[in-house]
Amino acid sequence: MDGNGRWAKSRFLPRVAGHQRGVEALRVTIQTCIKRQIEFLTVFAFSSENWRRPAAEVSVLRQMFLAVLEDELEKIHEYGIRLKVIGDIEPFGERICELVQRGEALTAENHKLTLTIAANYGGRWDLLQAMNRAVEKNSAPVTVFTEELLAPHLAMSYAPEPDLFIRTGGEQRISNFLLWQLAYTELYFTTTLWPDFNTASLDEAILWYRQRERRFGRTSEQLESDQESKARSGRPKLA
Ligand code: IPE
Ligand code: MG
Repeated sequence: MDGNGRWAKSRFLPRVAGHQRGVEALRVTIQTCIKRQIEFLTVFAFSSENWRRPAAEVSVLRQMFLAVLEDELEKIHEYGIRLKVIGDIEPFGERICELVQRGEALTAENHKLTLTIAANYGGRWDLLQAMNRAVEKNSAPVTVFTEELLAPHLAMSYAPEPDLFIRTGGEQRISNFLLWQLAYTELYFTTTLWPDFNTASLDEAILWYRQRERRFGRTSEQLESDQESKARSGRPKLA
């Protein structure tokens, strides 16, 4: 979710106004995902590098995170959303940690949409914590890492790998987001600033995604013959 600051600056407003509009854009996106029956939405709210911002801005972002947790857990639950938070949230303080725990427990059985908020998250941090946990938790000493050994300890082990990655604000980088999980994800970049991102923007991204051909290392011809044989045997085609 990039571009809050630029959105505010172009209107001669303080950066915080951009962040506030950013929360609004997130609300709209969550509702659109539910309407479109998207089951998983993961948002990069605060990266492990964002601590480098001016202290006043870090403090505002922390306050906003706290306010959303304090005011909206019930609403999140009513919507049937399962809330998950990934990242090292301890530095945000006890109150936020408590509310995250409460929110995750309250919504654990919800199935409409899994909303994951990445806060003080970094893809490299995730890989390292997963490796350390694998070493710690494995009954036999770990001498070789395998995908099977590592995957259960990654922060998003409860979710399938993402189909679509959207970055707003014009930059074309991953910026240490879900490094492992994005291996086969379709990457979509838009110059739309996050506060301007709305239902039409998400629909446009989904439309773009649907035109991609997902080969997972195979050739187009293999996919085509696969689809033909599936059609012949009456099984459903690839989505
Ligand atoms: C994204 O908007 C919000 C967070 C990272 C919390 P930015 O604050 O990065 O906005 P720009 O890039 O300055 O426009
Ligand atoms: Mg930015």
